[in-house]
Amino acid sequence: MSRLIVISNRVSAPKAKSAAGAQGGLAVALSAALRENRGIWFGWSGNETEQYEGKLDMQRHDGVTTVTIDLERQDIDEYYNGYANRTLWPLFHYRIDLAEYERTFGSGYERVNELFAEAAAPLIEPDDLVWIHDYHMIPLGKMLRDRGIKNRIGFFLHIPWPPTRLFVSLPYHERLVRTMLDYDVIGFQTQEWLESFVHYIEKELGGTVDADGTVHCEGKTVLARAFPIGVDFDEFTAATKSPEAKAAHDQLKASSLDKKVLIGVDRLDYSKGVEERFHGYERFLTRNPDQREDVVLLQIAPPSRGEVHTYREIRERLETLSGHINGAFAEVDWVPIRYVNQGYPRAALAGLYRASAIALITPLRDGMNLVAKEYVAAQDPDDPGVLILSRFAGAALQLKDALLINPYSNDEIAEAIAQALAMPLAERKRRWQSMYENVRDEDVIWWRHDFVDALKG
Ligand code: G6P
Repeated sequence: MSRLIVISNRVSAPKAKSAAGAQGGLAVALSAALRENRGIWFGWSGNETEQYEGKLDMQRHDGVTTVTIDLERQDIDEYYNGYANRTLWPLFHYRIDLAEYERTFGSGYERVNELFAEAAAPLIEPDDLVWIHDYHMIPLGKMLRDRGIKNRIGFFLHIPWPPTRLFVSLPYHERLVRTMLDYDVIGFQTQEWLESFVHYIEKELGGTVDADGTVHCEGKTVLARAFPIGVDFDEFTAATKSPEAKAAHDQLKASSLDKKVLIGVDRLDYSKGVEERFHGYERFLTRNPDQREDVVLLQIAPPSRGEVHTYREIRERLETLSGHINGAFAEVDWVPIRYVNQGYPRAALAGLYRASAIALITPLRDGMNLVAKEYVAAQDPDDPGVLILSRFAGAALQLKDALLINPYSNDEIAEAIAQALAMPLAERKRRWQSMYENVRDEDVIWWRHDFVDALKG
């Protein structure tokens, strides 16, 4: 069996006791993918060093070797805070109004990717499969090739790929996409992001793409396909039955009395549409005064990327808005929004999902969204909750029986909340059953096998 070498910006050991609420989908999914693999997981430690001298930190947890490096301040600023999170993240989430195009960010991104390539290349043995993840490391495959690595190398993008008309606003966009032609396989979360990529290849680089996704461009051949990521279904359903889950479930039930809990769980990020969600909820409260005190919204939003100004700004806006809504509607014994800025362990989240009658998951744009799938996995089959889901989340292409809404429309959010509250048990069960089967069958193990099989060629 060939070893798997996973390379991503963030590395989190399989059994690390971190608060999963603070982990993104990538960390959660990869812990599961590597748990059974005799592999190496390489990336940034998340730490800063005065001067990088090529030192690798190697650790072994639960059958997985993690290898990390520290980065210097300037590298963190230009590569992670800069190009990754001030340029590519907003652009790839269709927010060219927020994307910043600084030359120093672009050069820092290339410099750090070269540094990753230099550190990772010696770890790779001839039969290894190399699997690179996400927007932080788009050119890394080419940089490994430049160092003589001939192995099969795959790349998976966890976030959307934007439409060509937006993508071309990125200076040197051709240069970035050309580096991708050195991969053997390029994976996207959905058909929609794949189509945007194919459009770019055909219109901007003059390539052709066969019906099976084989891209021919500038003398190179690469397979481009959709591989929708799933949750670690077995682990998550086991977590749902844990004492931690039960404790969190009972605590939420007891503190909300007989009210219906609406839950939102998101990294504090402008792409998640939490502001728009609060406005939609406010509209529901305004339009339905008789139902006001029957509901409470629990919004869990662990802060993220706090060194980036757009993240500090969304945090301030949400504090103001939640305060405004609570001030306007609260009674002595009821507040409409419980706004919580900390992450929770996965088991506790499982209990909170099960105790919530409705999940409000309304990203303005999202590669997939695993919270939606975890909410479905955590429900009680005899009394399942209702998932209200943005049609702009990748998950909406699989979870077709959710109440799909346009997250920009306060009216649609307000109406979906009313519809969910009134939904008969039989309809709740029917919708949940079909989503549950999808979440169970297309889980993270299925995803990993699908990608790795394609990578083996
Ligand atoms: C998203 C990205 C991941 C990232 C995660 C958390 O899920 O696709 O690559 O790791 O967010 O963001 P952070 O910047 O904290 O790693």
